[in-house]
Amino acid sequence: MKTFIARTLRVRQTPNVLFAALMTGLLAFSASVMDSTTVRAHEPGEPSGKRVVIIGATARTANYMIPQALWRGHEVVAVARRPYRVRIQKHPRLTIVKGDVYDQASIEAALSGGDNEIVISIYGPRVDPTIEIPETDLMSQGTTNIINAMKAKGNRRLFVTTSTAMQEVVRRGYKADTPKPEGVTAASGLWFYNLRGPYNDMLKMEGIVKESGLDFIIFRPAQLMEEPPRGNFLLTVNTETPNRRVIMYPDFAAVMLEQVSSNQYIGDTIGVYSNTSMDDVENVDFDTAVRKLRAMKAEVDADLAADAAAERDAE
Ligand SMILES: NC(=O)c1ccc[n+]([C@@H]2O[C@H](COP(=O)([O-])OP(=O)(O)OC[C@H]3O[C@@H](n4cnc5c(N)ncnc54)[C@H](OP(=O)(O)O)[C@@H]3O)[C@@H](O)[C@H]2O)c1
Repeated sequence: MKTFIARTLRVRQTPNVLFAALMTGLLAFSASVMDSTTVRAHEPGEPSGKRVVIIGATARTANYMIPQALWRGHEVVAVARRPYRVRIQKHPRLTIVKGDVYDQASIEAALSGGDNEIVISIYGPRVDPTIEIPETDLMSQGTTNIINAMKAKGNRRLFVTTSTAMQEVVRRGYKADTPKPEGVTAASGLWFYNLRGPYNDMLKMEGIVKESGLDFIIFRPAQLMEEPPRGNFLLTVNTETPNRRVIMYPDFAAVMLEQVSSNQYIGDTIGVYSNTSMDDVENVDFDTAVRKLRAMKAEVDADLAADAAAERDAE
């Protein structure tokens, strides 16, 4: 049995991670952190021989992951329930496929199977943290469907995403039927209570993945921020991650992609965070974040309603 190691380590910043960050055009890492012992197997943009299937290709993470994966030379299959919203629409190694995790057949259709194909699931719930969601099965049922689709197609390697925020919901013991705690305000963490359904569902999903028999890695990012990459990411392996930390979207995407060609963390649960606290970044304001999430959710709901209406008209 794998020993549960309580270790925190700095990720080695390989040239691949560095170039991926550079490619976003947002930050130049110092050449001094390049590790001369790490030999890149291919030059930027050359075919890597890997096919990554990104489920949740309209996620904010995907906006960085897709270009980074293409830069790394991977063939990319972008699976989205709103394919027309995938940020990059055209590249010789990019295929965009319509897929919903509640529809196993749509996921199966995106997979070709084989050892060189890695399924990277970054989908997650679209939420307004001021609204209570006591229960949901998006993550547990959706990931069950992904696992079944992979088994049907002969895929082995699955990366999934949950969240470090799950730890706090577990610590507070919030369940579907937990009465609303007295005196908890939005600022003091009412959103943990409101979103107890999604977080408990993520925990359930982690259990399903661990029992799947697949070669998995569970990634638990800290609060994700739409800021330039900082390259200051830290990992925890099979243990808790410090609270109130942030990780930039491009850094998180790079950390996940770094594992495409590695066996280092297979079977592990990886916390991805940084030493940057939520108190140290300017744009963590609860009300602003809620406004943005509501706007995103409104766009998603309008798109899905229009798509459903178009499908009905076509019948
Ligand atoms: N944002 C954070 O601070 C944070 C922190 C910790 C962990 N996480 C987790 O990290 C992952 C990536 O986060 P993110 O912020 O990049 O995600 P995001 O921007 O919130 O996007 C969520 C993605 O999931 C997709 N999705 C939702 N329901 C789906 C369904 N039934 N079938 C297929 N796709 C579906 C959405 O598609 P549509 O665009 O069509 O809605 C979207 O692509 C998620 O698992 C999230 O829960 C996020």
